[in-house]
Amino acid sequence: LKVGIVGTGYVGAVTGVCMAHIGHDVICCDVDPIKIKRFQACDSPIHEPSLNEYLQHELTRNKIQFTTDVNEIVNKSDIIFLCIGTPPKANGEVDMHYIDECLNDIVPRLKQTHCLVFKSTVPVGTAFKAKKLVKELCPNKNIYIGSNPEFLKEGAAVSDFLNPERIIIGVEDEITESLLRRVYEPLIRKGHPVLAMDHASAELAKYACNAMLATRISFINEIANICTSLGANVNQVRQALISDSRIGSKFLSPSLGYGGQCLPKDVQGLIFQASMHDLKLNLIEAVNSVNNSQKELLFHKYKDWSRNKQISKVSVWGTAFKAGTDDIRESGAMVLINNLLSCGLEVHAHDPVAFKNTQAYYSKNKRFYISHGNPLDTLAHSQALFICTEWELYRNTKLQNISKLLLSPSAVFDGRNLFNKDDFTKQLDIDYFGIGQQNKLQKTDMVSASLTI
Ligand SMILES: NC(=O)c1ccc[n+]([C@@H]2O[C@H](COP(=O)([O-])OP(=O)(O)OC[C@H]3O[C@@H](n4cnc5c(N)ncnc54)[C@H](O)[C@@H]3O)[C@@H](O)[C@H]2O)c1
Repeated sequence: LKVGIVGTGYVGAVTGVCMAHIGHDVICCDVDPIKIKRFQACDSPIHEPSLNEYLQHELTRNKIQFTTDVNEIVNKSDIIFLCIGTPPKANGEVDMHYIDECLNDIVPRLKQTHCLVFKSTVPVGTAFKAKKLVKELCPNKNIYIGSNPEFLKEGAAVSDFLNPERIIIGVEDEITESLLRRVYEPLIRKGHPVLAMDHASAELAKYACNAMLATRISFINEIANICTSLGANVNQVRQALISDSRIGSKFLSPSLGYGGQCLPKDVQGLIFQASMHDLKLNLIEAVNSVNNSQKELLFHKYKDWSRNKQISKVSVWGTAFKAGTDDIRESGAMVLINNLLSCGLEVHAHDPVAFKNTQAYYSKNKRFYISHGNPLDTLAHSQALFICTEWELYRNTKLQNISKLLLSPSAVFDGRNLFNKDDFTKQLDIDYFGIGQQNKLQKTDMVSASLTI
């Protein structure tokens, strides 16, 4: 098939390259000419494992093209996937202006028979509105509308696209359904199932999945916080949880909260959509609120620890919202760094792949430095180390090396529980604060409290 992709961000780039990989002739367009030039030069502006290798292969065999010209994509496609960003507004509403602008631009140019599919995560009712727009703008053409939400995970996006657990298609006519089944035929043949449903259900399915994942993360973070207060260790409690097959292990790791482009905005988008129908999502609102507090947690721990200490420099390992990506959007690390900078501290950060995005974000801040070489190089003259992203590189660092470089008194604030409290406090003279690992003070307090009783 001739497939067009509009928007070459994380989703569009991966979708385009993978569609070419499974045999289609793909043309991708973006409003950003720099991005397009980089794709044309086989230099993906997006970091995703193996994306650049696949891109190179598809460029070489002429299965994929990149352009900024909307007419070209219309003329060279039978089906167009919209992969444009749908960021949140301050009130949580989904900002649809990129999608609306694009639809107004592209719909009048469509061929006599064409198919437009929403791959972006869009509010329920978007496909219905697009059908109305098509009727108004080109009443005599046969334009088919489909919904096809994307479930890839950043950091494993290529593999997720090529091995989907399910392909969800929102379709309300046979032609769109059969076209979408043809697009995915190479994956369907390998046994990956298609779930066909109406537009509204497909649109909501994406929000429901992300709300569920966010709920699990906020749940374990809330359990971690109870552990801290009651003197338990969340790493051990987690083992009890994940060994129960009804619960499973995924999305149950304590952290600085969920980040990235999807979970935060989709949770807020769902809350907003419900509020438009006078519905209050009590559980999902709590999930959102737990997450917002969790992003402040390490900073509060630091404030308590640093009271009466003269600290001028701190180090932060990891700015990406999770390992495997260069995406820093809504990352807990960025919230932390903003807080640290606002106290006048010099911040020396490290991230093996997100350093460029982070550098660009703080380009005007003279107290912020970031590197991507040896993370230990950030530690000289620092008194506190914050670990925010679960890169293996950090997990494999020898604690003695951290201890040698930090200035005393020093502390490690481990936002990913890469280390155990005992490793630090028993062997090294460093204070350690993980997520949901009880601290010594509270343990001693509890013992003395029970003795008094
Ligand atoms: N990032 C993820 O992991 C992920 C996963 C599943 C779904 N989604 C959803 O997919 C959508 C895209 O997300 P993303 O992370 O790829 O966003 P992104 O911001 O990385 O990319 C969006 C791209 O669209 C381009 N664009 C904007 N307006 C355009 C127009 N009129 N014509 C052509 N290009 C245009 C931008 O220049 C940008 O390159 C969002 O709705 C998101 O919620 C994202």
